[in-house]
Amino acid sequence: MLTNKLAVLYEGQGDNVAFQQLAERLAVPLRNTTHADVLAEPFFLCWRDGCLKLLDRELLRQGGLTVDIEPRNGEQRSYPAPKQGALAQALGRKTKTVVDATTGWGQDSLFMFRMGYEVTCIERSPVMAELLADGFNRLNQQDWMQRLQLQAPQLLTGNAIELLATLATPPECIYLDPMFPPKRKKSALAKKAMVILRDLLGDDMDKDQLFNVALQAAGKRVVVKSPDDAEPLGGKPSDSYSGKLVRYDVYLKG
Ligand SMILES: C[S@@+](CC[C@H](N)C(=O)[O-])C[C@H]1O[C@@H](n2cnc3c(N)ncnc32)[C@H](O)[C@@H]1O
Repeated sequence: MLTNKLAVLYEGQGDNVAFQQLAERLAVPLRNTTHADVLAEPFFLCWRDGCLKLLDRELLRQGGLTVDIEPRNGEQRSYPAPKQGALAQALGRKTKTVVDATTGWGQDSLFMFRMGYEVTCIERSPVMAELLADGFNRLNQQDWMQRLQLQAPQLLTGNAIELLATLATPPECIYLDPMFPPKRKKSALAKKAMVILRDLLGDDMDKDQLFNVALQAAGKRVVVKSPDDAEPLGGKPSDSYSGKLVRYDVYLKG
């Protein structure tokens, strides 16, 4: 599926074995030039500044997108951060275990992790799973993580529609943030990281099925994040909390 779409890029810095291995794992070509006119693929993975980065042609010259392990602007830097705001309200402050079935760039997962939830991550795109594994490794190296003897969330690579049925213990909450088709020009998905994710992966057309499986597999609740103008994924929710341009719909189990 990734053929002609993505290559691993080796820019001549250091040993290229890790680059070769990454290309083999993903079954994509290894390229060693940044001349855009010679390159056939629209997306690239490479290590820059010690981080695995995803690039498109625009980002080839410099930059790249990586799993950001830093707290959000304004977030309290103590661990656990206070369970405040729309997401914490939707998850429930007493909830302990959460499975993020659509991890993507891991920003929601890491936010939940920093608030003290026990988070397990599922991601089906092998490219995103590589970026997440790199980000979680970097997180494990952080002083504060080591001082508090914390481990980054566990990452399961595969389709959550299948994996949720195999979980040994049902998590109290399953969190879903599938890709919705954009309705307006300037949406919550307009950030470059989300635009590139959509360009690389497309919309998640099986989100109804994912919701039904999640409702079966969750111990207590399913939380769905969606653009604030989208129809609720599972019909009328039990509760709904609004954030900036997004909505968290909560489906409680009987
Ligand atoms: C909109 S992004 C999630 C963004 C994420 N909440 C964040 O904070 O970065 C949706 C992600 O869910 C993944 N996804 C969608 N359906 C999935 C499924 N059935 N199983 C596993 N991953 C899925 C997609 O591959 C994509 O990476």
